[in-house]
Amino acid sequence: MNVKGAISLGPYLQSPTTSSINILFWTDTISKPIIKIGRQPQKWEKQYVTITNSFVFNIKINNLLENTTYYYGIYINNQLVAGGDSLHYFNTFVKTGQLTNFSVWALGDFGKGTEEQRRAKIAFERYNSTHTTAFWLWLGDNAYHSGTVEEFRNKVFDRYYGYDSIMRFLPFLPTPGNHDYLSLLHYGGNKESLGAYYSLVNVYQQGEAGGVASKTEKYYSYNYGQVHFISLNSECWSYSVWGNMRMKNWLKKDLAANQQLFTVVYFHQPPYSKGSHDSDTFWELFMKAMRKRIAPVLEEYGVDLVVCGHSHVYERSFLIKGHYGKSTSFNPKKMLVSKSFGDVSKGDMPYVKFTNGKNANLGTIYATCGVGGRPEPLPDFGHPVMAVQAAGEGTEGSLILSFEQNKLSGKYLKGDGTFGDQFTLIKYTKAGKQKKKKVAEK
Ligand SMILES: [Fe+2]
Repeated sequence: MNVKGAISLGPYLQSPTTSSINILFWTDTISKPIIKIGRQPQKWEKQYVTITNSFVFNIKINNLLENTTYYYGIYINNQLVAGGDSLHYFNTFVKTGQLTNFSVWALGDFGKGTEEQRRAKIAFERYNSTHTTAFWLWLGDNAYHSGTVEEFRNKVFDRYYGYDSIMRFLPFLPTPGNHDYLSLLHYGGNKESLGAYYSLVNVYQQGEAGGVASKTEKYYSYNYGQVHFISLNSECWSYSVWGNMRMKNWLKKDLAANQQLFTVVYFHQPPYSKGSHDSDTFWELFMKAMRKRIAPVLEEYGVDLVVCGHSHVYERSFLIKGHYGKSTSFNPKKMLVSKSFGDVSKGDMPYVKFTNGKNANLGTIYATCGVGGRPEPLPDFGHPVMAVQAAGEGTEGSLILSFEQNKLSGKYLKGDGTFGDQFTLIKYTKAGKQKKKKVAEK
């Protein structure tokens, strides 16, 4: 929309909490917008006036009710320039610890400006028309080839290839990829200022939605209902490979304090893959670092699911533990927690974890979903930890994570609208299991 005084990028939503959200947008000309919100479109209850004239806006809407839908409109010079209809709204978060049913959309390696990107998006839009999605995970490599402002504008915020129609109602909780750092390969140092990623996103730094404050936008955590989410950064060499252990130390503190029933961790470069990136290859130092240095911490604290991108295929592991070497060192007898393929739609047993007892929180599922933009072929051999692998033409898509009370389901939603994988993990307390057994014996 290139009308004078109109919105030139966005609006989009960031950092939702139980009582607040940030609405971000850019304008064509310098202006001083007003945002109005209400529980019905154009029945405004509050307004937020920007303090200074600018082109770029990041406005925090606060003092909201939890788990509530609000509509919004953006006004410049008393003219409605965006929103004010049923398509522009947001939902505040469900409070920490409350058992609830919700879904999250995870999309990786998407900002390519391809028809495959568009098909994966449309498949989600169709799915979402009959489901409710709470928010959206970016799995990194969000804008190709270098994460510039123009690439974000043309391939991510764009209407045709991008997600203009989704961003207006679905907040995204991102992680950066190597392509968001202006380079295919990068070699450490302070990456704050490279690329457009950090100027576009606004993520929690002070534990605003739960979790331990990370005090940086590079990695962070938050809670929604019974689930704890952690966005890690696999891209900063200094955080993953060399001696600066700031992210790992924060991660340990955050996981130690976490009381949530489920924990989902996401970052860009997967610990295990035999797709367009092979985690066994000697130059894949970031993948190796996440596998050797971060995966042991995640498993020690019982993380349930790890979701990554980077490899332009779909891969989903068995429930595993303790595999931190090359694929040839995988020992199923020691490292496979369950032999089930975990796809209940195909008659497999679901994965089960217990929250306490001898084997409390044992095992983690690893999924790679780097097919949001353009899938690539899979080499002839797969990774032994993987229960499901898909690659090549027609495999573009995304991952829907659904939580129903004590059940986690992952659904690989392909561009044609079908599901290529549906895995399930159920959490029981040990006491709950015994009680169930007693009832069965009666
Ligand atoms: Fe990547």
